Amino acid sequence: MTVLVTGGAGYIGSHTVVALSEAGRRVVVLDDLSNSSERAVDAVRALVGADVAFVRGDAADVNLVSQAIVEHDVDEVVHFAAFKSVSESVERPLAYFANNMGSLIGVVEAMAGTGIGRLVFSSSCTVYGEPDEVPVTEASPTGAANPYGWTKLHGEQFLAQVAAASELDVMLLRYFNPVGAHPSGTIGEDPNGIPENLVPYLMQVATGQLDRLRVFGDDYETPDGTAIRDYLHVVDLAEGHVAALDALASHPGCTAVNLGTGRGYSVLEVVTAAEAVLGRPIPHEVVGRRPGDVARIWAGTERAEHVLGWTATRDLAEMLADHWRWQEANPDGFGD
Ligand code: NAD
Ligand code: WQD
Repeated sequence: MTVLVTGGAGYIGSHTVVALSEAGRRVVVLDDLSNSSERAVDAVRALVGADVAFVRGDAADVNLVSQAIVEHDVDEVVHFAAFKSVSESVERPLAYFANNMGSLIGVVEAMAGTGIGRLVFSSSCTVYGEPDEVPVTEASPTGAANPYGWTKLHGEQFLAQVAAASELDVMLLRYFNPVGAHPSGTIGEDPNGIPENLVPYLMQVATGQLDRLRVFGDDYETPDGTAIRDYLHVVDLAEGHVAALDALASHPGCTAVNLGTGRGYSVLEVVTAAEAVLGRPIPHEVVGRRPGDVARIWAGTERAEHVLGWTATRDLAEMLADHWRWQEANPDGFGD
């Protein structure tokens, strides 16, 4: 089997390329490097010791994607390529809709034109908006609170409609909060500028690159007042993609599946766990809530177990230890 991985030079993509190669698949990465480095592809090649083909370009370019599918005899696609910053999406909605919908349409059109039909799509727990009840299951109500979230929700709806009318079979994977890095410490998350997400920010405080972590709000209706999320190890998440491709043969049509651990941690619990892993305090202070944040969300994991035969196995301490190994060795990420 040969898999085309769009966005395969990025954070989740690079870890997924490793998992796919280890599972015996050949991989072709297509990435425009708009938020990543070709060094990530080199680091993946060094890890898997196998040839990983790389095509630099835009996933919205139907001709380019079609050419990659034909030239490399691609059978199936994992589509990561998208912009992912919530705050940037509020400032630049047009850029987010153009890139996230444009790249998805480009990929689906190229698949239809070349006659391949198995697709895994990167969705997000952001499609649950502010949930009334936790855990959220795939049947929970959906909604979006920002343009980024809308691109994921519209992406899901688009795929469901194309799948209903064609031979396309799709897994919509709704990721919760991926953190951590490959245990080698040679690939990991490499945010542009000041990180927006909790763990990358906290890790840059730990290296001394940033001064202190701001804890956004301690007046939520949660046990310690800080917001709760379902953090999952990026290697578990990567393995979920292999399971999803395997499951597509027996699950035609369009299926949404949560990828999370099924348990939540508060911001202060994450800080405490990171302090235990590092063996020293992490400077932090409580500030006001961040607009748009939900109080608590974690995944219902039954469908992932039944449909994919997948459960997350790595705990929060392992996520933080692995993230720290990468951050400490590569404080400036891939360095470009
Ligand atoms: P990332 O930015 O590290 O990876 C995305 C990759 O796609 C980058 O390498 C970027 O250069 C590439 N890309 C963007 N637009 C492209 C285009 N038009 N053509 C080709 N390449 C393009 O992000 P990530 O964290 O690895 O996220 C991967 C996917 O998972 C995204 O779709 C994101 O929305 C989704 N997701 C991420 C999270 C998270 O917390 N990281 C959570 C839920 C969903
Ligand atoms: C986690 C918790 C913050 C930074 C976002 C997207 C979501 C998905 C994952 C793509 C929250 C708190 C954070 C900081 C803090 N991405 N926090 N200080 O907001 O759950 O999800 O990334 O699909 O769509 O919305 O993740 O890591 O930003 O925040 O206190 O400096 O940490 O308030 O409670 P979030 P996050």
